[in-house]
Amino acid sequence: MAASSTAELVALFRAAEAILRGDRSIYRDRDARLFVRDSKLRALIARPRVAQAGLAVLDAVTPGLAGQAFVRYRYFDELLARMLADPLDQVVVLGAGYDAAGLRLARGGHPTVVYEVDERETQTRKRELLAEIDPRALERTVFVECDFARDSVAERLMSAGHSRDRRTLFSWLGVSWYLDAAAVDSFLAELASVAASGSRIVFDYMHTSVVAGGTKPRGARLAARVVALQGEPWTFGRAPDEAKDWLAGLGWTLTENMRASELRDRYQRAHSGRLRPAADWVSVADAVRAPDSRRTPPG
Ligand SMILES: C[S@@+](CC[C@H](N)C(=O)[O-])C[C@H]1O[C@@H](n2cnc3c(N)ncnc32)[C@H](O)[C@@H]1O
Repeated sequence: MAASSTAELVALFRAAEAILRGDRSIYRDRDARLFVRDSKLRALIARPRVAQAGLAVLDAVTPGLAGQAFVRYRYFDELLARMLADPLDQVVVLGAGYDAAGLRLARGGHPTVVYEVDERETQTRKRELLAEIDPRALERTVFVECDFARDSVAERLMSAGHSRDRRTLFSWLGVSWYLDAAAVDSFLAELASVAASGSRIVFDYMHTSVVAGGTKPRGARLAARVVALQGEPWTFGRAPDEAKDWLAGLGWTLTENMRASELRDRYQRAHSGRLRPAADWVSVADAVRAPDSRRTPPG
């Protein structure tokens, strides 16, 4: 198996968005470009005008795809900043790909312990890149190998040193899409069983219409075909109005459940420039560990 190509693709999106001129970016990840190594892809982020044109084409053929990714990162980063103000012990980035949150925390000298969880091949590539980019991040991060479809994420985290008594922020962005419903449910329930009181998870999920048969929302159609051809098909979806009860059954209390398009509108209100659209077929969920969710620890 090769390193995740969708992880590289979203790093490319972030790198392009980060160099836009003026106040047009939903989210600026200035480190994303460090993880884009393919020379053809690098050409797309060499100059702001090229990046802008590339994102404009993407918005035309798959409306809302790039924007939905940017709003989830912004939402997570703002929450992380708020939680760091009241010491945060652990951050766990699940399906981390080339997410640079760990790199930023290491650079900022935060004492927060960062766990990055992913499949072996993607993690191996990330470690090679981090060794070049900033060895501090490599030393400060605990890398946990896990296949969410097969392995127990709770067991993997606990054997890597994760504490179930320390407040944790979990990030699970752009990942539920690739699992089946049973794997998503057991994953979320397992995390709740090893999460301390006050711990939180931010994750995104597609709506059922994207993976069910029948007409897919515009914007999702072509993208779904492309990721399937890359060997990473979208397989999981959920109806947003079911999220509260669904998560409650898995040990999490939903605090926010926003369509990506709603988050984009929230951010637009604070911007002078015009932000790109974000999909209304993806939602970002923010949930806290429910009080009684540790009654049944796994294994
Ligand atoms: C679209 S990328 C998102 C990466 C990162 N969260 C981001 O937003 O930049 C999907 C990530 O999920 C990971 N992933 C997909 N299926 C997985 C599985 N069964 N177990 C563990 N990780 C998985 C991939 O390796 C990849 O890093």
